[in-house]
Amino acid sequence: MKLLEGKWALVTGSSRGIGLQVARGLAARKCNLVVHGRKPENTVRTVELLKHYGIQVHSVSGDLSSSEGVQAVIDGVRSGPGHVDILYNNAGVMSAWKPIWEVPPEEWLDILQVNLLAMIALCNAFGPEMKRRGYGRIINVSSGIKDTPNLAPYGISKAAVDKYTRDLAVELKDSNVLVNYLDPGWLKTDLGGKDAMYPVEDVLPGALVPALLEDNGPSGQLFLAQDYRMLA
Ligand SMILES: NC(=O)c1ccc[n+]([C@@H]2O[C@H](COP(=O)([O-])OP(=O)(O)OC[C@H]3O[C@@H](n4cnc5c(N)ncnc54)[C@H](OP(=O)(O)O)[C@@H]3O)[C@@H](O)[C@H]2O)c1
Repeated sequence: MKLLEGKWALVTGSSRGIGLQVARGLAARKCNLVVHGRKPENTVRTVELLKHYGIQVHSVSGDLSSSEGVQAVIDGVRSGPGHVDILYNNAGVMSAWKPIWEVPPEEWLDILQVNLLAMIALCNAFGPEMKRRGYGRIINVSSGIKDTPNLAPYGISKAAVDKYTRDLAVELKDSNVLVNYLDPGWLKTDLGGKDAMYPVEDVLPGALVPALLEDNGPSGQLFLAQDYRMLA
């Protein structure tokens, strides 16, 4: 089994849902973890769950709906390991179900701030130094959502994540900083809802694939976590 010993990963939104599973999966590969939630108390359970993996765990908090919150996450990393080798941009929010005509401008902005602009700010904070070190894996969590105008702010934020990731991959070409985007599948979480197709645990092992890529592997690509179900 490929291990990530000595590496540090920041998994945003690892207090619950998909991010918690990703954190557990990385911990099982001996990766040290920076876990994150909006408030310090939200990651207590994750830290507890990670205890028996024998890795180092550092907890950060910050609400990604504001630039102050994003900065708090960056500062939290600086006061812990100082850097990350793997940036798992997982935190995200769903938009309210409503006719596309009726979404007010501030609602578009709120969704884009958490799902896209916070991700970009974290890539800006940690990407250039990954490039200098000659190693990095960035995974931006997207979605397979389509043809759902009543969730347009969410869908458009994820389409922008895809495009941003492809552009960033070109910027990072030949640097061994591999940036890819992941569709986790429709999973039973607070965001996915109880009618979702798969239990949240089914995001593993597929969600780990873009974090485990060999040096100079694929970048700017879409990974579908559910393509790897047979490996579970
Ligand atoms: N579930 C699905 O079916 C599905 C499908 C496709 C894509 N996705 C994507 O997968 C990612 C994770 O989704 P999930 O289903 O695991 O959602 P979830 O269970 O609702 O968990 C969301 C996570 O994001 C964090 N978060 C939410 N708003 C935040 C904010 N304003 N600032 C900082 N952190 C915030 C939460 O932290 P707190 O606990 O502190 O609130 C929590 O850890 C999202 O990007 C989502 O779009 C999910």
